[in-house]
Amino acid sequence: MNNIISIWPTNFIFEQQAPETTPEFLTTIQSIGEEYEAMHPEAHVPVAMRKSNVETTYNLLNDERPAAQLFKRMLKERMTTLATIEGFYNPDKVIFEASTALRVFKPGEYAKPHNHRSVDYVAVLWLSLDITDPTNNNTHQELAGNRLHMIDPISNRSRLLNHRMCWPVSPIPGTFLIHPASVYHTSEMNIGNVDTVALVTNIKVSETVRNYVTL
Ligand SMILES: [Fe+2]
Repeated sequence: MNNIISIWPTNFIFEQQAPETTPEFLTTIQSIGEEYEAMHPEAHVPVAMRKSNVETTYNLLNDERPAAQLFKRMLKERMTTLATIEGFYNPDKVIFEASTALRVFKPGEYAKPHNHRSVDYVAVLWLSLDITDPTNNNTHQELAGNRLHMIDPISNRSRLLNHRMCWPVSPIPGTFLIHPASVYHTSEMNIGNVDTVALVTNIKVSETVRNYVTL
């Protein structure tokens, strides 16, 4: 058949365990992240709910230590690959800007469905967690724990196919995912005994031509 066209694909970069993620790297980058978390206790509190009105966010990519800089290079390399797949004009020349923070899900916590509509791409690197997800758990009902579900952005396609509306990620330490920011996602509850810790990076395509005027 040569009359089939496949349009509007959704491109992710997914590595069950990224090759750079040695146990030493994961431990080091997590401890750097925990330092920043301790110094910025309101980093994840919505602006209107903050007790202080000073800038409270941080960006791990500003840290000069080798683990943070290695992670910055990982992001750059993968984003150049993704830009190529996405069909960017001159993908090698696209400038990305990114902000990385540590996110912690304590036992019993989960991420409600959301997307990151103020940015262009999102990268998630899992650092440590209790692996509770049994293999071959493909039921609709059974909780796997810590699984991230990426939700089909075109939710009414293939209604008569038994397609998967959710694409599940069963993370282990070192699992690395980059997805378009517009894709909704949700995580299953952390049913382990320890925190699930990940680096979440918001990535923007830097606009080199801007002719907007402030109103
Ligand atoms: Fe998210």
